[in-house]
Amino acid sequence: MLISLSTWKHGFHPNRITYDAIANSRSALDAVELGARYCEADLTCMSVGRGGLPDAAGEVTLDASIMDHDGNCGGVAFVRQYEHVISVARRVMEKTPHVLLVGDGAERFAANEGFTKTELLTEKARALWQEWSKQPDKLHVRLRRAEEGEHEYVFVKVDEEGKEREMDRDSQELKSAAPFPGRARGAVDPATHDTIGILAMDAEGRLAGACTTSGLAFKIPGRVGDSPIIGAGLYVDGEIAAAVATGNGELMMRACSAFHIVEMIRHGMEPGEACERAIARILKDKHLKDDMQAGLMVIRSDGAWAARSLRPGFQLAAASEAVEGGKNMLYNITAESASTVIQQL
Ligand code: GLY
Repeated sequence: MLISLSTWKHGFHPNRITYDAIANSRSALDAVELGARYCEADLTCMSVGRGGLPDAAGEVTLDASIMDHDGNCGGVAFVRQYEHVISVARRVMEKTPHVLLVGDGAERFAANEGFTKTELLTEKARALWQEWSKQPDKLHVRLRRAEEGEHEYVFVKVDEEGKEREMDRDSQELKSAAPFPGRARGAVDPATHDTIGILAMDAEGRLAGACTTSGLAFKIPGRVGDSPIIGAGLYVDGEIAAAVATGNGELMMRACSAFHIVEMIRHGMEPGEACERAIARILKDKHLKDDMQAGLMVIRSDGAWAARSLRPGFQLAAASEAVEGGKNMLYNITAESASTVIQQL
């Protein structure tokens, strides 16, 4: 059964590429890598690859992982100046005895493997970072999800006791505090802080998955999220299921969400229920905040798939041989269902 799933609206075109690859007899592993590479090169996506938003120091750092049906996996984290980190992750998987390479070591490995250096920071991303960096101390900018997967910046002030307060965008306090112009809701570019996660099942029934991201916008330099961590952002067991978790990476890292879903399916749970249980675990996270999201998706080894999210706003692209011969569709995902098709191509 041919199936491909990709997270978020920016996963729509990568999902087409992934599905077409398996429909043309490529392996699931090749297909997820191809889909991820498309997103890494897509400058309109400001949360993945080149064009991604930088860290607090203005540097773009990328994380990625890949895993096949046989338990082989590889990841890279805190990689600067290499665009196709998903392919570097695959080389880690195929050419080293290790699972994860980070920072300078990962970059040296990429250079030795023949990957070429690329400037990852685009002018658009630099301009947003410069606006952000003009914020006075204790005024933080957060990305918050609105309906339908769009994103907006919100301004948060932290008081002396460490309590956070969201500021009214039109308030005099904000206008006088920050040179960043107060903007109307939705007027800011929908820059996201999310990975793309891709899962596929090929004609031979093999499962594979890939995750790639520039991570949280304006993160503390050195921060690594869930995407390169096998078991957090991605987990595949070819006999059981393949799962991806996306959203605020720290949530998925503390809950090992992708691994959690696969293990519950191993013990007989249906895919949708397994995602709901993983969401229930995330809901217990002491650090969970109102502006945080978690989106989960899974393909079981028999081809059944499911997705759930902590809050409305998560979307995924799905193409399945069983539905109109592999038509790529974008779904709205909620805590209970993955049934609302919002766009078809
Ligand atoms: N889920 C992507 C990240 O938090 O880095």
